[in-house]
Amino acid sequence: MKTKKILITTIIVLIFSGQLIVPVRAQKNPENKSTLLAFNDKGKMYIGVDYYPEHWPRERWETDCKLMKEAGFNVVRLAEFAWVLMEPSEGKFEFDWLDDFLVLADKYGIKAILGTPTAVMPAWAARKYPETLATKKNGQKIVWGARKNNCFSSGTYRLLSERITKAMAEHFANTPNVIGWQTDNEFAGPVCHCDICLGNFQDWLREKHGTLEKLNEAWGTHFWGHKVQTWGEIQIPDCTGEGSWSPTGNPGACYDWRQFNSWLNVRFQHEQVKIIREICPDNHFVTHNLMSFHPEVSYYDLAKDLDFVSWDNYPVWNKPTISYGAAMAADLMRGIKEKNFWIMEQTAGACGWGNFFRNPRPGEIRKISYQQLAHGADAQIWFRWRTCTAGREQYWHGLLGHDGKPLRRYKEAAQVASEYRSIEKYLVGTTIKSDVAIVYDYNSIWSLWGQSGFEGNNVRDAVSRYYNAFFRAGINVDIVNTTADFSKYKLVLTPDLIVLPDKLAGKLNDYVKTGGVLLADCRTGVKDEYNLVHKRTLPGLLSPMLGIEIQEYGAITPDFSYELISDRLFSDKFTATMYVDWVIPKDAEKVAGYNQWHLENFAAVTRHGFGKGSGWYVGTIVKEEQFYDKLVEQLLKDANINKFIELPEGVEASVRQGNGNKLLFLINHTEEPKKVIVPKDKSDLLNGGKTGDFIELGIYGVAVIKL
Ligand code: GAL
Ligand code: ZN
Repeated sequence: MKTKKILITTIIVLIFSGQLIVPVRAQKNPENKSTLLAFNDKGKMYIGVDYYPEHWPRERWETDCKLMKEAGFNVVRLAEFAWVLMEPSEGKFEFDWLDDFLVLADKYGIKAILGTPTAVMPAWAARKYPETLATKKNGQKIVWGARKNNCFSSGTYRLLSERITKAMAEHFANTPNVIGWQTDNEFAGPVCHCDICLGNFQDWLREKHGTLEKLNEAWGTHFWGHKVQTWGEIQIPDCTGEGSWSPTGNPGACYDWRQFNSWLNVRFQHEQVKIIREICPDNHFVTHNLMSFHPEVSYYDLAKDLDFVSWDNYPVWNKPTISYGAAMAADLMRGIKEKNFWIMEQTAGACGWGNFFRNPRPGEIRKISYQQLAHGADAQIWFRWRTCTAGREQYWHGLLGHDGKPLRRYKEAAQVASEYRSIEKYLVGTTIKSDVAIVYDYNSIWSLWGQSGFEGNNVRDAVSRYYNAFFRAGINVDIVNTTADFSKYKLVLTPDLIVLPDKLAGKLNDYVKTGGVLLADCRTGVKDEYNLVHKRTLPGLLSPMLGIEIQEYGAITPDFSYELISDRLFSDKFTATMYVDWVIPKDAEKVAGYNQWHLENFAAVTRHGFGKGSGWYVGTIVKEEQFYDKLVEQLLKDANINKFIELPEGVEASVRQGNGNKLLFLINHTEEPKKVIVPKDKSDLLNGGKTGDFIELGIYGVAVIKL
C-alpha cells in the first residue's frame, strides 16, 4: 500500500511539473543496421578510448584529442556516469560542457558514442525519491554513493531514466560527430527486494503462469506445504544459498525470480532504446557493454533491442596464462546476435579497485586486442584513456598513467591502430564461419544456481572443458542460444543443458536424425521448462537418439575418483571426477568405461549412430584436459570436420572470412617464440611478404595471413 502511494504521488508530481514522458512510437527495427557500421567512418574501423572529459581540466582536453589523433584513434565513448553534470537539478539540463568537448573532438576527427548515464543516479534523485534506491535482502536500503544503486521496478526511477534519455537524445540527435549510444553500463543488479519489486514480481508471475493453479504446479508447492492461495501471498524467495545443504527457497520460485530480474533489466533498457530510436536519426546505433558470462541477465533477451552487442574485456589478472576465457567470451558475444561485436572496454593497463593486479607486459595488450579481432570484434575501444587520480578506479590503469604522459602502453595501442588501419580493407564484411556450435542456455544457468546438483557444477565450466579443446585444435566455435538454427552446424554440443523442454529435445533429435553430430553430457535434460525434474528415465526424450539409459548417478567427492578405460578413444590414464552417471549403453557403442568393480557394466562415453547422424554422451567429468583433446578429435572425425592446422601449445588460430577475403589469425599467448606450419606463398599482412613453410611468432606475437 505504502509503496503504491509513493508511486502514484511521484507520477502526479512529474505530471504537474511537466516532466512526464510523452509516449513514443513503436520501436523501429534494429536489425536493419549491420556491423559494417564499424567501418562507416569512410571505410575506417572505429578504434579509440573511453574518455571522461569531466575528470580533467578543460585546458587538457585539446592535448588529449591531439594525442588520440596521433595514435590513430577516431572514436570515444563518453558520459555514461555523468548524469549529475548533465542534469544538475531535476529537469534542468546542462550539456554545454559536453558540446564543447564534442566540438573539440570533431576538430580532431573523433566521433563519439554517448552513454545514457543511468548506472549512477545523482545524489539529488536519491534524496528526493528514496524509493528509487534498491533494497537489500535484509530490508535495508542500499547506501547511495557507489554505482548501480537503483531499483529497476521503481516507476520513479524509470521516469527519471526516460527523462534524461529523452533530453540527451533531443540535444545530441544532430551533433555531427555523435554516431551512437550505449545504454546504461553493464546491466545486472542490484537485485532489489523492495515492495515495488515484490509487486512487479507478482504481476510478472501472473503474466507467466496465468492461474494460481498453474503456478502451484510449476513450483511444486505440494512440497513442504508451500501452496499459495492468492497472488498477494507470494514472497520474494530466499535464493542466495549455494550447494545442496543451504536452506534456500523453492527452486521453482528462485528460477522464476531470476528470470524476472533478467526481464526487469531488459524492460528498463527497452524504455531507453525506444526513446533513442524515436528521436535520433536512423544512422545512430544503439549498443550495450556486456560482461561476457555474467549470469544475471539473459544477454539474448537484452540484445534483441540492440543493433549489435559490445563487451568489456579484462583478461589480465594473475600470472600469464593462455586466454581461453576471452576467446570463449568473444564467441558467445558473437553468438548472441549471430553477428560481429564491438569491444567497448579493452584492458589498457593493470586492473584493480582496492588492489591492483599484474601490469600487462610488452606486447600483451596488443595480442589481447588481436584475439578479439580474430573472433569478430569490429571495433576496438580501450578502457580508459588516462588513469584517473580520484575515485574507486584510481588503480584501474588506462593507456596513459596518472601523469598523462603517452608512454609504453599508449605507444602499443597506437601500433595496434596503425596495424589495424593497414588491414582494415580486408576485414570489412568478414566474420567467423563455424562448423561447431556449443549451446549456452540461461535457463540452465538459473536452474543450477543454488541447486547445482553436484559440487562445482556450472554451465560456464562445463562449456569451457570442451571449448578449450577446440581452441587447442584450432577450430572456430560459435556459442549460441537453444533457439539457433542447428542445421548450419556439423557438430553441436550441449554441455550441462539441464533444462530441456520437450520441444528442445525434439529439435536435438531432429538435428541428429538429419545428419548432425551431437554431444550431450552429465545432467542433460534432467529438468523441464519450469525447473521441475522430469519423471522419465534419463536422458528422457534423448534416450533413443543417444542409445542409452541412465540407471543411477552420484557425485564423486574430492576424496576419491575412478580410473577410465577405453580401447578405442585413448590409452592414457584418465580420471573421472566430480560426478558419474551409471550409463547403460543399450544401442550405443561403449567408447569408454570405468576400471571399477561396481561400474564395470556402465559406460563413461558412448556413441550411437541415429538416422543420418550420431549422438555422443559423456557421463562424467575428466580431470585431464588431454581427455577432451582426444574426444574432440573423434567428434571432428565423426562430423567430417577437417583440422586445418597443427598448433604448438599456447598458439591460437582463428579465421575471419567473407567479402572475398579469408584471413587466418595466429596469436602466441606465451612468452616463448613459437613456430607454426602455415600454408605457403600467402600474404603475411603484418610483416609483409609471402609465407614460407612456417611462420615464427615472438613473445605475444601475432600474424594475419591472407589465405
Ligand atoms: C567495467 C565498467 C567500467 C569500469 C571498469 C573498471 O566493468 O564498465 O565503468 O568500472 O569496469 O572497473
Ligand atoms: Zn525494487
